[in-house]
Amino acid sequence: MSARRGFVYLVGAGPGDPELLTIKAARALAQADTVIHDRLVHPRVLSLVRPGTRLIFAGKEGGGPSVAQDETTSEVIAQAQLGRVVVRLKGGDPFVFGRGGEEALALEAAGIPYQVVPGVSSVIGAPASAGIPLTHRGVSSSVTFATASRAEGEPDWAHLAGAETLLLLMTGGRLEHVADALMAAGRDAADPAAMIEAGTWRHQRVVVGTLATIASLAQAAEIGSPSLLVLGQVVTLRAQLPSLSQLASDEWLQPTRARGKS
Ligand SMILES: C[S@@+](CC[C@H](N)C(=O)[O-])C[C@H]1O[C@@H](n2cnc3c(N)ncnc32)[C@H](O)[C@@H]1O
Repeated sequence: MSARRGFVYLVGAGPGDPELLTIKAARALAQADTVIHDRLVHPRVLSLVRPGTRLIFAGKEGGGPSVAQDETTSEVIAQAQLGRVVVRLKGGDPFVFGRGGEEALALEAAGIPYQVVPGVSSVIGAPASAGIPLTHRGVSSSVTFATASRAEGEPDWAHLAGAETLLLLMTGGRLEHVADALMAAGRDAADPAAMIEAGTWRHQRVVVGTLATIASLAQAAEIGSPSLLVLGQVVTLRAQLPSLSQLASDEWLQPTRARGKS
């Protein structure tokens, strides 16, 4: 084992658009000896590392087999124990459905110094990029973030059904069940709904309907991973914000291109 003490940065890479990376995250990447990254990280973010930095993939492949969490945590610890500066790079924010808390606990237990670098979570980035304000005066004054898939069993649908703005992650493959469960728990079938696929990426897509129709609309559009569901009256604001919902994020980098032209 090296005498040099390693250090771990638990870093949020943001929801997709590489321009949403924080300056602090970019600095950590530029210092890293090892980067252990998830699948949902833009290649331009990974290109910020120094030549010779070791890149280790630890991501989940769209619902398929993934590198086990324990294995990833052991790798992070092992790299740090070699005296390296390790960036554990996660999509969105490490502490929002990112298992960053588990990795932080393991680092505490192993006595390895570390820091968390927050990232723009997809729960914030994707709706903004799709032209959906999560709260809006007179429309919604609260927002609930939840996962539709829990290892311990079904979410508390009765609780979630009562949320003002409701944002559900990880609905993959069970959107119909999710919508049925929410309606059975009392949420209005006519509640406005949006599925956002690949929010903030150039290939972002948005499907809008109601709680009753969103599953079949998303299926017809072949909405895939990563995607999230937004429910509530705020979804209707999107129609009043066409400039936002049509703007691909990278267009900000090309000021000479006229907006509205393809
Ligand atoms: C394991 S969670 C990780 C969330 C991440 N830590 C965050 O803060 O965004 C993965 C889920 O986040 C959602 N997600 C991540 N990136 C997304 C994006 N760009 N657009 C839409 N949903 C996204 C999807 O629901 C996906 O199944």
